[in-house]
Amino acid sequence: MRQPLIAGNWKMNGNRSSVETLLSNVINGASTISKTEVVVCPSFPFLDLSERLLSGTSIKLGAQNTSTKESGAYTGEVSASMLANFGCQYVICGHSERREYYGETDAIIAEKVSICVEKGMRAILCVGETLNQREQEQTESVISTQLDGVITQIGIDIFNNIEIAYEPVWAIGTGKTATPEQAQSVHAFIRQKIASHSLVIAEKIRILYGGSMKAENACDLLSQSDIDGGLIGGASLVANDFLAICRAG
Ligand code: G3H
Repeated sequence: MRQPLIAGNWKMNGNRSSVETLLSNVINGASTISKTEVVVCPSFPFLDLSERLLSGTSIKLGAQNTSTKESGAYTGEVSASMLANFGCQYVICGHSERREYYGETDAIIAEKVSICVEKGMRAILCVGETLNQREQEQTESVISTQLDGVITQIGIDIFNNIEIAYEPVWAIGTGKTATPEQAQSVHAFIRQKIASHSLVIAEKIRILYGGSMKAENACDLLSQSDIDGGLIGGASLVANDFLAICRAG
């Protein structure tokens, strides 16, 4: 039995005061949620504040990115050790926005996944196709290549320590959600692909859906047999909406 996981990816939003309000409201509302693992991923400057607010709660802290480097002269970078030091237990790796705007390749993403796990955190490895790729019926081959980046560079065992998030690029921030059937079909494909390397890991690994998941569609998506949670963008910035999704999990 896989425990549902709902992670809020706040992306580059908020300020000290709005983060404090949002997180306090999430903490209050989440006190009655026990079935679902809840994670919030604020921007780097808010990790310290968030770690302090989350202390003593069951909500976990995550980061949105990491450097591939350990430490040293890499101006502007934030290392995985620093994230672990600020209480992060999860790190989003390979989000489509990182792939598209910052040129992250499958090889770079594999390095990020690896260093997060080495530092004792769990990576949330994002995969997903663009609209054009879906229309060209390339969804499975694109996702297969993205997964192979990690499988061949690091090995299948690392999937014991990571989650996968399927995020169709065409559904992110667009209000267009994959239908439960579309999402289930890709999730099942991902699980089969992992199963071709390890049945045990395939049974255990959590595959999250991301892309315009909201309170209204969360139940239908999360009731699919291979959808084990969600990576929530826009709706995670409104405490009540995020909490409603957490309850649906
Ligand atoms: O990481 C989260 C995803 O990019 C989904 O974002 O819920 O705003 O569509 P969204």
